[in-house]
Amino acid sequence: MKKVSDCTVNQIIWLNENNFLLELIAPDSLPDIRPGNFAELRIDDSRDVFLRRPFTILETDKTNNTIRFFIKIIGAGTRKLGTLSEGDQVNMIFPLGNSFSIPVKGPVLIVGGGSGIAPFILLAKELQNQGIPITFLFGGRTHQEILLIDQYKAFGEVFITTEDGSAGEKGVVTQHSVFNKIANYNMIYACGPEPMMKAIGNIAHHHNKSCEVSLENMMACGFGACLCCIVETKSGNQRVCTEGPVFNINDLTWQI
Ligand SMILES: Cc1cc2nc3c(=O)[nH]c(=O)nc-3n(C[C@H](O)[C@H](O)[C@H](O)COP(=O)(O)OP(=O)(O)OC[C@H]3O[C@@H](n4cnc5c(N)ncnc54)[C@H](O)[C@@H]3O)c2cc1C
Ligand code: FES
Repeated sequence: MKKVSDCTVNQIIWLNENNFLLELIAPDSLPDIRPGNFAELRIDDSRDVFLRRPFTILETDKTNNTIRFFIKIIGAGTRKLGTLSEGDQVNMIFPLGNSFSIPVKGPVLIVGGGSGIAPFILLAKELQNQGIPITFLFGGRTHQEILLIDQYKAFGEVFITTEDGSAGEKGVVTQHSVFNKIANYNMIYACGPEPMMKAIGNIAHHHNKSCEVSLENMMACGFGACLCCIVETKSGNQRVCTEGPVFNINDLTWQI
């Protein structure tokens, strides 16, 4: 069930100058949160950020009601979130959106780029609980954009690509040699820049593999009222915040 809560900042952990983890404590017990769900955080009333901003729920801890987010600084809102201090209040609507489906059998391949690494800790926990083997592939322009790797290594094998070759294989994610073994995977998940997700969807489609992507369309309300996050699907326009953010690529009208 959706909640609106005044949460307290527990800590901010900087991963590098552009990316940080924001940990909030909710005032009461956490609702059921599924892999892929997101929250809308209220920043302040100033003209540049009066709309809430959406962030995927990275991790939760029901024992102390904490929720963590991975945040990449993009503009005014994310920059302001990075100035919060322990004890500050953040109003949050959560959990929002749908979630990834869990296949009956694996192995699965998870591909992430940029802030698209955020949805996969909760997913990995659930897949691991189901005994499904996971391979991760994370891409960035340089090694500085490859983050949270140690956390992901706890769930499976992790491969890396960087465009400058400073970590892992040189190139973009779709050029990685793991795709030579795509027949091994039963399901592919992807989140990141749209061209990356389209390219992964393309590969999955041509190898007849099921593939889910988590879209990061611009949002305003986050709960289905404003229609500003529409994506075209084979069954008509759908709201990414409500019918998504997770879609099967076969349901989208992407040219693949
Ligand atoms: C469902 C969902 C989950 C998300 N999860 C995460 C997450 O876990 N971690 C994270 O760091 N980010 C995530 N994002 C993206 C995040 O919401 C945006 O980066 C943030 O809202 C930008 O706010 P800002 O005020 O800093 O930038 P703004 O000032 O709002 O924007 C700065 C520039 O970036 C562009 N921009 C803003 N948002 C987006 C977007 N969603 N797609 C493309 N361009 C955009 C704007 O057009 C503008 O040019 C998610 C987005 C969605 C929809
Ligand atoms: S953000 Fe308002 S309908 Fe999706």
